[in-house]
Amino acid sequence: MAESTRVSSLPWRTLLPPIIAFLLFLPIVSGSYFKPFNVSYDHRALIVAGKRRMLVSAGIHYPRATPEMWPDLITKSKEGGADVIQTYVFWSGHEPVKGQYNFEGRYDLVKFVKLVGSSRLYLHLRIGPYVCAEWNFGGFPLWLRDVHGIQFRTDNEPFKKEMQKFVTKIVDLMREAKLFCWQGGPIIMLQIENEYGDVEKSYGQKGKDYVKWAASMALGLGAGVPWVMCKQTDAPENILDACNGYYCDGFKPNSKTKPVLWTENWDGWYTRWGGSLPHRPAEDLAFAVARFYQRGGSFQNYYMYFGGTNFGRTSGGPFYITSYDYDAPLDEYGLKSEPKWGHLKDLHAAIKLCEPALVTADAPQYRKLGSNQEAHIYHGDGEAGGKVCAAFLANIDEHKSAYVKFNGQSYTLPPWSVSILPDCRHVAFNTAKVGAQTSVKTVESARSPLGSMSILQKSVRQDNVSYISKSWMALQEPIGIWGENNFTSQGLLEHLNVTKDRSDYLWHRTRINVSEDDITFFKKNGANPTVSIDSMRDLLRVFVNKQLSGSVVGHWVKAVQPVRFVQGNNDLLLLTQTVGLQNYGAFLEKDGAGFRGKARLTGFKNGDIDLSKLSWTYQVGLKGEAEKIYTVEHNEKAAWSALEPNVSTSIFTWYKTYFDSPEGTDPVVLDLESMGKGQAWVNGHHIGRYWSIISQKDGCEKPCDYRGAYNSDKCTTNCGKPTQTRYHVPRSWLKPSSNLLVLFEETRGNPFKISAKTVTAGILCGQVSESHYPPLRKWSKQEFINGTMSINSVAPELHLHCEDGHVISSIEFASYGTPRGSCERYSTGKCHASKSLSIVSEACQARNNCFIEVSNTAFHSDPCRGTSKTLAVMARCSPSQDRSYLGF
Ligand code: GAL
Repeated sequence: MAESTRVSSLPWRTLLPPIIAFLLFLPIVSGSYFKPFNVSYDHRALIVAGKRRMLVSAGIHYPRATPEMWPDLITKSKEGGADVIQTYVFWSGHEPVKGQYNFEGRYDLVKFVKLVGSSRLYLHLRIGPYVCAEWNFGGFPLWLRDVHGIQFRTDNEPFKKEMQKFVTKIVDLMREAKLFCWQGGPIIMLQIENEYGDVEKSYGQKGKDYVKWAASMALGLGAGVPWVMCKQTDAPENILDACNGYYCDGFKPNSKTKPVLWTENWDGWYTRWGGSLPHRPAEDLAFAVARFYQRGGSFQNYYMYFGGTNFGRTSGGPFYITSYDYDAPLDEYGLKSEPKWGHLKDLHAAIKLCEPALVTADAPQYRKLGSNQEAHIYHGDGEAGGKVCAAFLANIDEHKSAYVKFNGQSYTLPPWSVSILPDCRHVAFNTAKVGAQTSVKTVESARSPLGSMSILQKSVRQDNVSYISKSWMALQEPIGIWGENNFTSQGLLEHLNVTKDRSDYLWHRTRINVSEDDITFFKKNGANPTVSIDSMRDLLRVFVNKQLSGSVVGHWVKAVQPVRFVQGNNDLLLLTQTVGLQNYGAFLEKDGAGFRGKARLTGFKNGDIDLSKLSWTYQVGLKGEAEKIYTVEHNEKAAWSALEPNVSTSIFTWYKTYFDSPEGTDPVVLDLESMGKGQAWVNGHHIGRYWSIISQKDGCEKPCDYRGAYNSDKCTTNCGKPTQTRYHVPRSWLKPSSNLLVLFEETRGNPFKISAKTVTAGILCGQVSESHYPPLRKWSKQEFINGTMSINSVAPELHLHCEDGHVISSIEFASYGTPRGSCERYSTGKCHASKSLSIVSEACQARNNCFIEVSNTAFHSDPCRGTSKTLAVMARCSPSQDRSYLGF
């Protein structure tokens, strides 16, 4: 019997997720998810259904995924140990036109909340309605700027009226759908405003009055659950205030009656076009979380648990990229980012084991263990009558390990780490010891629908990428004013006042008459005249007589662009572009886009020409946008012509082709590295802006060390490479064949080199030593409570698991002994159990997941007596329907 428990594998587990998902989502039809319960709080914690709770929350923004992705994201959050899902509400998506509401598709908020409830998770709904969130205009709809007399986020009647109307609408919607906890729904907490404390000073007394108004307005809606204002030290007594940041263990709420809440634990960071990619190591993130619960925290939310994608033109800015991956535990496509996801899952399991003790004690007992080491102990009477005790031992030294004595036992604490002792004795988890597997995402060229290929062939194909299509059509976008709905006006108008953000693009055209004398003057001076603008954002392209003179990129920067005129009349065209509207800061309504300050043409014989005094013709957007040539319905109406490969392409061109969907169920991306800058649509769905801009050259050199306080410049990657090359195309937007892909390219690019690829966790690595703590799944909460823990006799385990629908197709490396190196670069050391590979292969091959005990017994003998041994494994995962790797 022992054999099967030591090296166990559970193929039936692959069947579990769909069955569980089916059972869990049944209540969607039936209506209520919980027996109605109330939520209140005391100084220690939220009180859910009469009990203090230690809660872990996962941030997921519903419109950053598709409804088809939601169930899997929620399931994986729950599996990872979340009790709560947290989301903002995105006003601009729900009310794009004043008074016209949208709660469909990715904006089907009711459906999202119901899915959370049917998974029996709670929901924290952050209505805002200002949300920041790297979302276009911080979530405000553009029409809000045009409300007469409006000033955002202050004591201003027109703003308050619109804000109240929207917040009421959302609360009513939730109440009508019976989604509050007291109705049997999942909503346990709400949020009004967002980090207003950061900007409050800019608004003086009116800011203070606004905080009071927002609080009483929210409370007046009778939602029946607590409201939060995050980063709001003057939050009124009956509103919770909360911390946001990389660390919140020192946070003290503004009243002794309020619990310690952490609404945003930044587990990664967002990315700018031209910026490097952020990475927050799992060890440091776990350290921050453990410290938080250690020092009295009771609710912590990962911002983000799943970041997702800024589809369409939803990304904020300026200059935030289309991916909102965030280095979150679930990546942009919803795949687990390992070891982050798994390490946090283990952490949550350890915290859950401590929960009986954590909720019993009103405050921890503090014990200093060394100069940089401390313990916090929670003990008291357990619910079942017995005594409960949990302790956190921290070593906040950034460099050295520490040996501490606690309760008569010795403990080794790695630098910058916390050990969690759910019974005040045994270590269930240490934040710096990662037992979870590492996954390496592999990106494969789309498989030919003509039949499956072997792993080997596939990897050859990776170098020899197959492009999406050999047949492309092109259409030239007119340079300049193209249609009838243009208009002429005196002077330079503010960009957003004209576009209302219906498009990124605004054309301005004027006529410049250049005399013979001017031309002689330019020649004599040896300098061309220049367009000179005091301040502009985000992108300006200058054309003379339809020829591009140059472009300027920046955020409120000076633009100086030399231009070449001919004698006589010249068309001067200025194209201003936005790349995501401002989402943070005070006075957003005044920010605007396009130009600020003086705009001149310099270098003329008779002095500068003031461009703001001229008459300009304006045109919003592109002709192709107006004609919707990216949609399945309208694209055929445009005059496309076939594109020859290797012919050089011109700027401002639309491209289209049809392509087959990659086989299988893995997430699909389009590789647009061969393109310049523009936007892309698949079957009419706007997949986002693309831009092959290169990331900053420097900043990625230092090796990533988890120790010490994190900031977003630490551990970055991808310097000197294009910031984003892969663009997510959700599976549900694809059909098996003839998918319409349309791109609008502003500069130059080669569509013939566009490929469709699939992303999967193709490689798994795991490394666990004999001295690691026993697997958390074998710790029984009941045994703690009863004081009968027998965990000493259980050996540690290495757990490997492929994504659903995938199986371990091969074990590439396995060594029980003293293996060296790291994932993808392992080698055997002096000590090596000769049967390592066969034992691991036997346990894991062709299965979705497997557990391997790290012990001499599991490997049939001790390969080197007296030496501490480690098991290191590298495995490959492949789609389970693909049996070719087994030789079929
Ligand atoms: C916070 C804000 C979030 C998000 C985050 C950075 O300050 O509340 O909405 O913008 O920063 O990702």
